[in-house]
Amino acid sequence: MIEQSKLDTTQQARPAKRPAGPITRTLRVLYIIAAWLFALGVLIQTYLAGMGIFVNASWLKEHSGLGWSLAELSILSLILLFPCRFPRKIILLHLLLILDIIFQVGLVSFFHGFNLPLLTALHPMNAVLLFVIATLLAYNTLIWTRSTRRKAGA
Ligand code: HEM
Repeated sequence: MIEQSKLDTTQQARPAKRPAGPITRTLRVLYIIAAWLFALGVLIQTYLAGMGIFVNASWLKEHSGLGWSLAELSILSLILLFPCRFPRKIILLHLLLILDIIFQVGLVSFFHGFNLPLLTALHPMNAVLLFVIATLLAYNTLIWTRSTRRKAGA
């Protein structure tokens, strides 16, 4: 009797997952596109930094502009993240990405003001980490979305 009532409470606490409707599926596709574009943006950032160092320092202005835009994109895409009903792993990866891009921008803006060059020098190294996180996020989101589609089709 007690076991049965326990089971009932658990079932009430965790309702059965609703299948994704066409709006959720479209938002997921948009999110995946944004996630891959973000990873590509990070790659382009490293190239623009190279242009600034080896071609002309004025390219660093483009680098800075794209860097701030990518930081904004990572925060704005939170609007897509929640209605997409992704699993916790993807939500955590997205939050980690936001933290890391804030750190990345902070290294050359906020922390730079404290005159700590050894810390600022982490900027290119953290770019590699940012690329890894961005690629993992885009890849995992793509694989998870494909697997849910396959299950729905089965
Ligand atoms: C190999 C990789 C990278 C190198 C060598 C590099 C180098 C630099 C340098 C030298 C500056 C200073 C520019 C100046 O003084 O005008 C800078 C600024 C900046 N970088 Fe990078 N960067 C790299 C990757 C990235 C990535 C991946 C992002 C973000 C996605 C990023 C975002 C920024 C931003 C937003 C600024 C300007 C900060 C401000 O407004 O003060 N960088 N970077």
